[in-house]
Amino acid sequence: MKTRTKVAVYPGSFDPITLGHLDVVTRATHLFDRVIVAVAKREEKGPVFGFRERVRLVKAATRGVPGVEVDSFSGLLVDFVQKKKACAVIRGMRAVMDFDYEFQMALTNRKLASRVETVFFVPSEKYFYLSSSLVRELAKMGGSLSCFVPPPVEKALRRKFPPRVGRRTTPTKKR
Ligand code: PNS
Repeated sequence: MKTRTKVAVYPGSFDPITLGHLDVVTRATHLFDRVIVAVAKREEKGPVFGFRERVRLVKAATRGVPGVEVDSFSGLLVDFVQKKKACAVIRGMRAVMDFDYEFQMALTNRKLASRVETVFFVPSEKYFYLSSSLVRELAKMGGSLSCFVPPPVEKALRRKFPPRVGRRTTPTKKR
């Protein structure tokens, strides 16, 4: 008997990918044969990382996770999902803060393509509060990043926001 390969698409801006995203991807691979992480172009959102860099970082972060591919899309998500012959959209659901937005998106996508299901994964509680915007803020302020992002992302963030050199001191006047 021929069994159908179950393909899912995990879309997002991934600006940048975090350990929370990675946790969701890994959980999704336990249910689906292939998981396509789809980086949305969305340059209009003014991302910190350009589109190519976000794709590069997602590839670097997911290298070694079996069953994961990285791709990108612009335009409607459901068009991409159907082109890839995927049956589901993966999204992470953290606390209630995500609910309204995710619910609206899932129902809109269902209206556009009734056979595409949205499947929500709850990330590990370690990452419940984690978001790309928090990581961007920490990076700008020179905060520690290793608990939040994979090493290639940390490196890229440090390059983007180099640590500030110690404050310039005004020379004291000689009396
Ligand atoms: O990581 P994000 O920014 O929450 O991801 C949101 C994303 C890119 C998945 C969503 O905005 C999207 O699917 N955009 C593509 C346009 C689309 O299909 N819109 C209709 C569904 S709301």
